[in-house]
Amino acid sequence: MSSGFEAARDLLHARGQGHLLRYWDRLHDDERGALVRQLDDFDLDTVARLTRQWILNKPAPEVFEQIDPVPVLPIANMNDPSAREAWDAGEEALRAGRVGLVLVAGGQGTRLGFDGPKGAYPIGPITGRTLFEYHSDKIHALQRRYGVTLPWYIMVGDTNADATRSFFEDQGHFGLDRANVFFFQQRMMPCVGDDGNLLLDAPGHIACNPNGHGGSIPAMVENGITKDARERGIDTFSYFQVDNWAAKLADPFFIGYHVLREGQVSSKICRKTSPREPVGVHCVCDGMYQVIEYTELDLYPQLLHSGPDGSLVHFAANTAIHVIDGAFIEDTYARFEGFPWHCSHKKVAFLDESGNLVEPSSPNAYKFETFVFDALRFTTSPPTVLEIERLGEYTPIKQISGDNSVESARRDMNELWGGWLERAGANVPRDASGRVAIDIEICPRFALTEEDFGARSVHSDLRTSLAIGFDLS
Ligand code: UD1
Repeated sequence: MSSGFEAARDLLHARGQGHLLRYWDRLHDDERGALVRQLDDFDLDTVARLTRQWILNKPAPEVFEQIDPVPVLPIANMNDPSAREAWDAGEEALRAGRVGLVLVAGGQGTRLGFDGPKGAYPIGPITGRTLFEYHSDKIHALQRRYGVTLPWYIMVGDTNADATRSFFEDQGHFGLDRANVFFFQQRMMPCVGDDGNLLLDAPGHIACNPNGHGGSIPAMVENGITKDARERGIDTFSYFQVDNWAAKLADPFFIGYHVLREGQVSSKICRKTSPREPVGVHCVCDGMYQVIEYTELDLYPQLLHSGPDGSLVHFAANTAIHVIDGAFIEDTYARFEGFPWHCSHKKVAFLDESGNLVEPSSPNAYKFETFVFDALRFTTSPPTVLEIERLGEYTPIKQISGDNSVESARRDMNELWGGWLERAGANVPRDASGRVAIDIEICPRFALTEEDFGARSVHSDLRTSLAIGFDLS
């Protein structure tokens, strides 16, 4: 271990971070090994560059002469010939086995206050079915429908990798073939204190955070995901976030538009519910497609403006549902040095001089992350942006109650599936405000779409909560 120590010591002293070895003498061999591995894994050149750029100097925000609303394709439906053509092309790509699924599930999920990987959150109000199960139910349904395997590539982070893998093991991979479910790990970035120094949060551990979902691009290449996919004949990835139980994975309309236009990155957007809804906004900044995050809205107040009819001009909310081309991921990886980083000032626990863990009451350190939608800047042809309805496609879970919460997601489940039942002829109780008054869950394996359901529904007069199709396997 002494050579590990010497290498670590030389590296850290050269970077003015020798204090990170303060407790070395107290560490057991395995702790020393873990600390050296952590250091090896960090991209310290990038950390030094970002520290100079963001902490020791304060960069001016990007200034744009013009921010235009993004051109948006309307909600797809079969009465529109171009949408029908897209559907056919999407189904063809699916049947040909060209599509793989990428789920980003490496985040910390602090806002939900849930102790475990976010995907293990039991979102089903009746069945207690987790987010991961809902996603895997859809995969079963799609594989059956198109007679193909849809490999599922799941990005995890240091903090939840083991827990996520064990959860899948314990649940028998939800009946999916484990040879087609892959976990790959994103890299971590050290947090940088206000003084520009890295922090220890344990005697042998440097405080760090996952490098953002933009980290999926290097992680897919470095962990052999793009290679595995290419060997399977996959050139198109359907990308989604773990917190959105409703995401339509591998939606033929969306895949079809993407492949017909030979797309690099395509995105689904929905209409913002209010100017300050905490979602990113798709727009075109001085000719370049970008997403401006909700945390930056005050820098670009024009994004809050309404048009003459009172509706928001920049309505295109980022749902974080994309289709991404495999070769584009590899090209972007090759140029990843130019990929933008985002910086936020946060409260980060650290060890003080006496070795006590301090939980600061105000922000004391910076976290650096990359965002996958910044890949839009690297596209060489105009990205496709497709509008979707929220109901049945976008109801993410960011917190327990309020907007985009567990509560609102469950309400949307009831509205979505209550609507299916009503249109199939059932009486569904509604409260005085017109909302569905019982809990309803329909297993995506039983019916992935309303058309599937209409053909199988036998329900008439509903009085109590109802879970349909979950005994199937
Ligand atoms: C995100 C988008 C926002 C969009 C909204 C849609 C960002 C910065 N913003 O906001 O534009 O409107 O979703 O719901 O993403 N994740 C990782 N690794 C990481 C960080 C995150 O895998 O290092 C995953 C999380 O597990 C989660 C997803 O990315 O699935 C979103 O992360 P989160 O931090 O919750 O983003 P939001 O602030 O909700």
